Amino acid sequence: MKKYTLGMIGLGTMGRNLLLNMADHGFSVTGYDKDPKMLKTLEEVGQKHNLKGFSSLEDFIQSLELPRRIVLLVPAGAIVDSVIKELEPLLDQGDIIIDSGNSHFTDTSRRATELSKKGLHFFGMGISGGEEGARFGPSMMPGGDKTAYAAMKDILEAIAAKVNGEPCVTYIGPGASGHFVKMVHNGIEYAMMQLLAESYDIMKNGLGYSNEQIQQLFDKWNKGRLQSFLMEVTASIFTFVDEKTGNLMVDMVKDEAKSKGTGKWTSQVSMDLQLPIPTINEAVSSRDLSKFKKLRVALAEAFPHEINIPENHQEFEAQMEQALYFAMISSYAQGLHLLWQASNTYSYELDLQEIAKIWRGGCIIRAELLEDIYQAYKANPALEHLYMDANIQDKLSETISGLRKIMNVAVNNGLPVTAFASTLTYFDSLRTKNLPSNLIQAQRDFFGAHTFERTDEEGIFHAIWNQITL
Ligand code: 3PG
Repeated sequence: MKKYTLGMIGLGTMGRNLLLNMADHGFSVTGYDKDPKMLKTLEEVGQKHNLKGFSSLEDFIQSLELPRRIVLLVPAGAIVDSVIKELEPLLDQGDIIIDSGNSHFTDTSRRATELSKKGLHFFGMGISGGEEGARFGPSMMPGGDKTAYAAMKDILEAIAAKVNGEPCVTYIGPGASGHFVKMVHNGIEYAMMQLLAESYDIMKNGLGYSNEQIQQLFDKWNKGRLQSFLMEVTASIFTFVDEKTGNLMVDMVKDEAKSKGTGKWTSQVSMDLQLPIPTINEAVSSRDLSKFKKLRVALAEAFPHEINIPENHQEFEAQMEQALYFAMISSYAQGLHLLWQASNTYSYELDLQEIAKIWRGGCIIRAELLEDIYQAYKANPALEHLYMDANIQDKLSETISGLRKIMNVAVNNGLPVTAFASTLTYFDSLRTKNLPSNLIQAQRDFFGAHTFERTDEEGIFHAIWNQITL
């Protein structure tokens, strides 16, 4: 009986498209889904490759060659655990389970430990690129068991997006590092999306631009150094007409942003690791704030604000381009700094050069400027922070004035630019030699006897502040 090289559990759009991608590359693959409709769709779209799926988990498992390679593409959370539970009694030692959903990295660590005790290989793999990426070339972030990765390497390299002929996949590191890196990828994605949304707001409510003008500016930026998948998507949103009303669809969409959690997890972890990523945090908070529509409407009436934007729009557009460029670099810088810290804390052995490299294609945060970021880590793989690279420093110095000017105008006109603002203050804090944190320490010691360190002497000190001030 013919045995398949790989089996997919979960034949929704992502799972199905990944299977089609594998079949295109000559791999003999199959799938399992409880839902007969999903199996039917797989057969229909996979006719060329004679793709077939199973509705019986037992038959599906028996159809796979040993060691079995089983990819899970099911919703993150409890469903992953229940699928694993169903699978366990049917598997043999040495079989490999790859969780490709957006699982929380702590779940992945737990599952890997539990399954390794049972002789099963488990690894978590982040996949980015959406439906299109899954079908024609995603960026993939597999981490965990190295033996398991070796058994998957050829398939993953074949189906991944390619940049200069190099696949956008690499072994990320041990443990749950694959899912951790994907989570941070999404955090950066949140920041980039928020920055683009704030730029849209400045154009629409500040400059008074029409949708057509907005589309043209995004499109223009996408042809320059700001070229990115998200910029391209954003520009094309402003061409999509709603058939029902004849208006642009973007004007018919409620201004309340949802999320599935990966951005929030990135912020939560950054707090745990005490590694600031304010642009990403603001992007998460801004989505949450947007949900208070009723409150916003009431407050908009209570606090009306006049808009008075500079007349020279051409100059202003150039400054906006600089501001976006500066803030986009900073979003990657914060995410990569978090990875640097996580790598130390969790012993993930992350190679930031490789990570920047595989983000250059296939994934949602792919962008022209990742080439410079990749070159920065290539020149110095131990780089602590992207801001320390000489080439990046030149680019920051060249564009900072644009960000300051945009901030000035936005603040004076009451336009909410949370991501731009936090980027600027993050940068200004990091390039400040003496922060006022000495005062924080003094305050803590004053009212809580929390002690402090001195500038002129080693050791831990406490002062009787009351007596000194009296
Ligand atoms: C995804 O992983 O599907 C998205 O990149 C992030 O999703 P969200 O915006 O719904 O959190």
